[in-house]
Order: sequence, then structure tokens, then C-alpha cells
Amino acid sequence: MQKVQIAPSILSADFSNLESEIRTIDKAGADMLHIDVMDGHFVNNITFGPALVKSIRNKTNLPFDVHLMIDPVIKYITEFADAGADIITVHLEAKDDTRGAIELVRSLGKKAGIAINPETKIDTIIPFLDVIDQVIVMSVHPGFAGQSFIGDSIDRIQKIKALIANRDILLEVDGGINSLCSQDCINAGCDILVAGSSIFNTNNYELSISEIMGS
Ligand code: DX5
Ligand code: ZN
Repeated sequence: MQKVQIAPSILSADFSNLESEIRTIDKAGADMLHIDVMDGHFVNNITFGPALVKSIRNKTNLPFDVHLMIDPVIKYITEFADAGADIITVHLEAKDDTRGAIELVRSLGKKAGIAINPETKIDTIIPFLDVIDQVIVMSVHPGFAGQSFIGDSIDRIQKIKALIANRDILLEVDGGINSLCSQDCINAGCDILVAGSSIFNTNNYELSISEIMGS
């Protein structure tokens, strides 16, 4: 089994010092950078576009895990791929053609994911299992950092893990992850933990990461 990976979300970083934040989180043991893209329409917040992704691409060699909380989504995928995304995840709840979006991501040579919101029925991921590289299970309502982990997510993680068993698909959990719930997520089958505020709102990123990872 592959080791569990940590994907710090730069949504909680100090934007006025983003280059330094990225270099620090890289040294602190991040496995990839999670980049939350929000459009003020699919979710009630606005964050980054492809230009931001491009501008930080040469600050680290960490893979960029780009979480698109936008709708429409297809028309922006090529720009995010060109900007340096390595993994591009789209939401099942977006009205745009999910399969078309995933196929476009893969045709650009990138890994593709689907994200599922807390209220969305788990079975809705089934039609996409043949074309995805990862599933992001949202453990908060998407839109903002710093929310509390929704406890029901553990059961959802277990069920999704069972659905993707024997496939080459990674399971990522996103939202409210801290050292209190991380081990339950790992035990339930998560491969990647996203964490924003529980890392960037502390003054020792390396220590925060090791507490979350239980190492
Ligand atoms: C929420 C985002 C998350 C968020 C995580 O919509 O997708 O990635 O930034 O932040 P925390 O860890 O603070 O919940
Ligand atoms: Zn996210």
C-alpha cells in the first residue's frame, strides 16, 4: 500500500507572501499543493485563476492538485492544464458535462478527479470509475477554509473506498482535516489528506503536518 499523502491547501496561506509560504510548505513535507479554485457561482467565494497557478509553478516541484469548484468548468480546463496543474478535479454537482470534462483533462495528459459534496449520493460516482484517477470526498460544504469536519464523512469514505476497491483510483478527503480526525480518515481508507487552516494557521508547518499524519 502506498503511504498516505498530505496536500496542504494554499487557500489558508498568507497570500501577501505566497512564494515564501510555498517554499516553506514544500520543505515542511508536503506531498503536493492543493489549489482551491472558486468562481463565486458554483460556490459562494472567489479565489484563484490559471494566472495564479502559472505564477507559482516555478516556485516548487510539488505536484499541483487543482480542485475546480467552478461551473461551467470545461472551458477553463485547458488553461489550468497549461498553467501547470498535474491533477485536475471537477465536481459531480456542476451542470457541465462531467464525463466530457474528465476526458478533456486526460487528453491533456493530466490526472483527472471527481469531487463529491456531503449531500450527494455516493452512487453517482459509479459511472465515472473507469475514467478517473482520484475521488475527492468533501468533508465540509465547499466554499471556505476553516470549517468543521462533518463526522458522517467517515462512513462515506468507507463506502467510496469499497466502490473503488481494486481500481487504480486514489481517495482524497478535503475539509476540516486536523489531527483529531485524520487518523479516522486514514483508517477509513483515505490516500490523500487535504488540510488548510490546521497547517497554515499555525507557526510550525512541519510539526502540524506530522501531527496530522500521526508521524
Ligand atoms: C473547501 C476547500 C478546502 C479547504 C480546506 O471548499 O475545498 O480545500 O480549503 O481548508 P480547511 O482544511 O481549513 O478546511
Ligand atoms: Zn479543496
